[in-house]
Amino acid sequence: MAETTPTAEPTRRDFLFIATGATAAIGVAAVAWPFVAQLAPDAEVIAAGAPIEVDLSPIAEGQIVRVFWRDALIFVRHRTAEEIEAAQQTPLSDLIDPEPDADRVVEGREQWLIIYGNCTHLGCVPLDFQGQYRGWFCPCHGSVFDTSGRVRVGPAPINLPLPPYEFVDDTTIIIGEEA
Ligand code: FES
Repeated sequence: MAETTPTAEPTRRDFLFIATGATAAIGVAAVAWPFVAQLAPDAEVIAAGAPIEVDLSPIAEGQIVRVFWRDALIFVRHRTAEEIEAAQQTPLSDLIDPEPDADRVVEGREQWLIIYGNCTHLGCVPLDFQGQYRGWFCPCHGSVFDTSGRVRVGPAPINLPLPPYEFVDDTTIIIGEEA
């Protein structure tokens, strides 16, 4: 899987693969998108649908990064206290697809929102931090999502779904495995 030579220093990518064995690992940098793409697991691993490990430690509060699992785009959002509060304080009666924020995050780790990143209308990729709820705005037909990824303005019919994932520790998740 990793390309190493006996004389070469292992690269960060090599280390991640070596350290995690069969589990594909993804590092996330401050400038996340190009770095994630660079460190994405190889095509065979993705095609096999293997779980991917994501290191959350480089993701700053207020930042969203994108990863792929089984060809699906996933947003990993490190929410601020204000964003969490906004999500928690929203009355369910205000929601198109009523779902408490508590059901969309892990208790005690409410700062981390991990959701699929394609609009539930026709699959466009919503824009981060856009729309009146500062969640996401879908430029294709105008759907708006809040800081919990719940649809607040259609035509999207349902919330952005959650992928299966679990926390390994405070700063590591594995997407593709359910707790
Ligand atoms: S695809 Fe997002 S609103 Fe239509």
